[in-house]
Order: sequence, then C-alpha cells, then structure tokens
Amino acid sequence: MRVLVTAGPTREAIDPVRFIANRSSGKMGYAVAAAAVASGHEVRLVSGPVALTPPDGLECAQVTSAAEMLDAVRQWVPWCQVLVMAAAVADWRPAHVSARKLKKATGTTELKLVPTADILSSVRSMKAGRLFVGFAAETEQVVEEASRKLRAKGLDAIVANDVSRPDAGFEVDTNRVVLITAGGAEPWPLMRKTEVARRLVEWIEGAVSREEEGES
Ligand code: CTP
Repeated sequence: MRVLVTAGPTREAIDPVRFIANRSSGKMGYAVAAAAVASGHEVRLVSGPVALTPPDGLECAQVTSAAEMLDAVRQWVPWCQVLVMAAAVADWRPAHVSARKLKKATGTTELKLVPTADILSSVRSMKAGRLFVGFAAETEQVVEEASRKLRAKGLDAIVANDVSRPDAGFEVDTNRVVLITAGGAEPWPLMRKTEVARRLVEWIEGAVSREEEGES
C-alpha cells in the first residue's frame, strides 16, 4: 500500500519572530508512519515542525504553515492509496504577517485571525477510490463531534480522542481513542500511541482489502 501521513502542528507567522501554533507533538502521526513502514508499506510523511526524527524507510516533506501542508498534501495525494491526516492543522492564521518585528512599545495589540484552508475538505475532490482517515481532538461530546467531522469531511474513518484527559492526546505517549466509521463507534482501551498506530494500520489494511474484494 502507498500511505500518506501528516503529522505535527502547523505554525502561522505573526512577524519574523512570532507564530501561532498548538500543542501537537507529532508523536501520533509519526507512530502511524513508522507502523506503516514496519508493515511493509510505502510511506510518505508530511510533517509540521516537531522535535522528532522522521522514521527510517520513508520519504518526508517538512512544512511549516497550513498553506504549505496543503500544497504538500495536494502534491502527494495522487500518489497515495491511503491518506491519514494526523496533523493538528492550525484553523486560523494572522490576517497580516508583519515584515518587521512588532514592538512592545505599541502596547495592546489586536491580532486579526482568518481561517486557514481545511486540508481534508480541499482534497476531497481527489479522493476517488482512496481511503481517507482523519483524527479528531475533542474536549467534549467526543463521539458526536468526531462523527460530524467524519461526515462533513467525507472520511472513511476518524480516530477521536478526548484531549482533556491527562492520559490521552497532546504530548503524552499514550492515547485513548474511539475509531468511528459509518458503521459506528468502537472505543479502544488506553494504549501506547505506537500500539494505537499498529492497530490503525491493521484496520486500514483490512478496509483496503475489503474494498478490493468488493471491486473484484
Ligand atoms: N484538518 C484539516 N485542515 C484543517 C484543520 C483540520 O485537514 N485546517 C483535519 C485534521 O488533520 C484532522 C481533522 O481535520 O484529521 C479534524 O481536525 P480537528 O482539528 O479535530 O477539527 P476541525 O476541522 O478543526 O474542527 P473544529 O474546529 O470544529 O474542532
């Protein structure tokens, strides 16, 4: 299988020294990429700025902003059979990027934020027979919210996690997720992110082979 994975946060510049980002460490996405390589798949990784070294055996594009991530994903989607969007893409960016460092003497400064492009929605028209998997970071109504995103973004599956829990979500090595498909919601027990990744790759392999059987 040819698997495209995105991971990490994006950074949206305010001025030459400042940016807006989020708490994503990239661990979950890197674990999915590594698990796919370990299962013998061809893997490409689009990574936002993280403190991790890309796993061996894959091609990696390093990007900074949501716009750059969108460009990289658009370029690689035609190559892939499976897209796993584990990246925590910034939803807003500053409306104007100052070419000069903003000075503190200005006092209170207002920052106008405008929405970034939604990457999954932007590549939806390229989906064809590809399998698209999203991730959802929620703090309330986890399954309901993630199910809404599954439908809104036209995904085959979404991995939902409650990021308000100390043992799941940002920065930690464990995750407690619910795998949501059109068929329903399947809660997985607390596991290491590497184990969540291994099981997700297994689920993807099953889904792709069911799809292929359906076609033949
Ligand atoms: N995503 C994306 N482009 C964005 C934001 C998110 O492709 N600009 C993808 C993420 O990579 C993830 C899925 O959409 O796979 C859900 O992301 P999430 O941040 O949970 O949801 P949002 O779409 O940002 O919705 P909300 O702000 O309502 O939580």
